[in-house]
Amino acid sequence: MLEIDELTGGYFAGNPVLHGIRLRGAPGQLVSVLGANGAGKSSLLGAVFGFLPQVSGSIRLDGKPLAGLGTHQVARAGVRMVPENRGTLPSLTVLENLQLGGMGLPPEEVATRVEAELARFPRLRERLRQRAGMLSGGEQQMLAIGRALMARPRLLLLDEPSQGLAPVIVEQIFELLGTLRGSDMTILLVEQDVGLSLEISDYAYVLEKGRVTREGGAAKLLGDPMVREAFLGVA
Ligand SMILES: Nc1ncnc2c1ncn2[C@@H]1O[C@H](COP(=O)(O)OP(=O)(O)O)[C@@H](O)[C@H]1O
Ligand SMILES: [Mg+2]
Repeated sequence: MLEIDELTGGYFAGNPVLHGIRLRGAPGQLVSVLGANGAGKSSLLGAVFGFLPQVSGSIRLDGKPLAGLGTHQVARAGVRMVPENRGTLPSLTVLENLQLGGMGLPPEEVATRVEAELARFPRLRERLRQRAGMLSGGEQQMLAIGRALMARPRLLLLDEPSQGLAPVIVEQIFELLGTLRGSDMTILLVEQDVGLSLEISDYAYVLEKGRVTREGGAAKLLGDPMVREAFLGVA
């Protein structure tokens, strides 16, 4: 269970970009944070993953406090992040990137999990010996997600997986993300693509200028006139 309370934070002391955020994510849930460019979505993920410099308030995962920990310790607590730039290592092969995601596990376990990710992303099996840098944008996104899942995280953070991808590829990625719901992992997805995100979310928060201005079940937000007008372009 992810519990964020009274989270305020930013890049410089006295200049917060996040203001008093409260957020919950239960195991099995896909929770979206929606908002325009500059709303503070990446900063929020940075606060959870331990690289936003100034953080106050409480961030807990399964009761364990994360606020103030470095990225390394947050990762050790069972958190993985797929950053906006995907973060795969371009000169390593697809297989090597996946194996890195299982670092620290016994080799047989790594092999088992690689097999599980290749079953999830058949495209990656076809590209197994190619360098990650040679993959298409969509394939790199699949690799980044697969690599994060190798660790079987308690909490998966995703920063705008739709970015820079063709609509048909985005739909494939989001469909896949939808299938990840219902396990004992919490997924926190931040996105500008509000319509697609709400389709696969259990619950969502709208972030504006670092503040949560709306929240609710995905169906409720899809029907919210403000959300429809501001983010979906329909009245
Ligand atoms: N590295 C940084 N240093 C200083 N300010 C930043 C940095 N990154 C983002 N910001 C500022 O923080 C605010 C929120 O940005 P960000 O979290 O990147 O928004 P989003 O991910 O929703 O587009 C913006 O005002 C942005 O200018
Ligand atoms: Mg961002």
